[in-house]
Amino acid sequence: MRVKIHRLFELFLEAHKAQPKVSVVHSLAESPRLRDFIGDLDPDLSLDWSGQSFLGLPSLREKVIERWGYGPVCRADNVLITAGTAEANFLAISNLVGPGDEMIVDVPGWPQPLVLGEAIGAEVKELVRQEELDWMFDFDQLEDLITANTKLIFLCNPNNPTGQILDEKALSRVVELADRVGAYVLTDEVYRGMEWVDRTTPRVASIYERGISTGSVSKVMGLQGLRTGWMISRDNQLLFDAMVLREDTSEIMNVLGEAIADIALREERFEQSVKKAREQGEKNLALISQFIKEQPQLDWVRPQAGLIGFCRLMTQVDSEQLSQRLLKPPYRTFVMPGSAYGYDQHIRVGAGGGNESEIVRGLSELKCLFKELEE
Ligand SMILES: Cc1ncc(COP(=O)(O)O)c(C=O)c1O
Repeated sequence: MRVKIHRLFELFLEAHKAQPKVSVVHSLAESPRLRDFIGDLDPDLSLDWSGQSFLGLPSLREKVIERWGYGPVCRADNVLITAGTAEANFLAISNLVGPGDEMIVDVPGWPQPLVLGEAIGAEVKELVRQEELDWMFDFDQLEDLITANTKLIFLCNPNNPTGQILDEKALSRVVELADRVGAYVLTDEVYRGMEWVDRTTPRVASIYERGISTGSVSKVMGLQGLRTGWMISRDNQLLFDAMVLREDTSEIMNVLGEAIADIALREERFEQSVKKAREQGEKNLALISQFIKEQPQLDWVRPQAGLIGFCRLMTQVDSEQLSQRLLKPPYRTFVMPGSAYGYDQHIRVGAGGGNESEIVRGLSELKCLFKELEE
């Protein structure tokens, strides 16, 4: 399988090379430091593997079910610990979709299924989210895309980059359509737990027997570097097949990642860190929202969840031209152009990282560039 680089990753690489002074793209909560866990880590922890289960540390799997509310329908046996949501998605897609099979992917959305589906030689069909429908897709389109050859429907929920939530009623409709042809539904739930509206993100693994929920400690907990995530499904054969494939990718779990995640998910710690992440996220989102209100060049459907949002850009220049100018002196600021998702007149902004002053600086640089463009 030969994977082509996606524009989103290319843009991250280019921005990294440009060494911006400020970024308004962060998608995860402020990251804790190693010192926050040292006192609770067992110095005798063997850096071999836990030796307890090939699915991953049992106590961690139990905590994932409890903290993210997948019980009682799903149990710890339905969880496979993986190297992040990214590996969980990879294992599921690779197991379920072969050359010539069809898969449906929401757009704009997380590019991983587009890249992998194409590399596998599958027919990847795009389910288009529409801005005028608050970035929801049309069910008639979904019905038209589904055929007897559809193996997988991949949705990013809450959605990256728009932050919109597919509620339980809508997800149940997707499941009903998928069930007619025996297709799996995978929802990438990495942004679950950071909802800003009175709506929880449904868990597809709890709703559908061929449902797969993927997630990790990367976003809400800010623990991206642990590379610790999960795949949850009641289809234990699929979980077994994923574990077999993992033998040829990361092989076993990241022992230190599991140990730290297991500490981070202790009830009290978990509640405290989610509270802090929510407070910071809410503050930063309010800042961005206010900025957008004041800038005639920008508009957005405010995200319902997560730390990123997708803004419509009303300037003569397109998103890549804008972001390239913004990366250069005197601005040296990074915002993600919407072209990363195939949308030339949008930009993706992020309220993560916890650093309010960085966001304020970044937005003020963007404002200066907007002024310069008017001159
Ligand atoms: C929607 C989505 N899925 C998956 C990932 C990868 O997350 P992880 O660190 O859990 O592998 C990201 C990271 O940005 C993401 O935005």
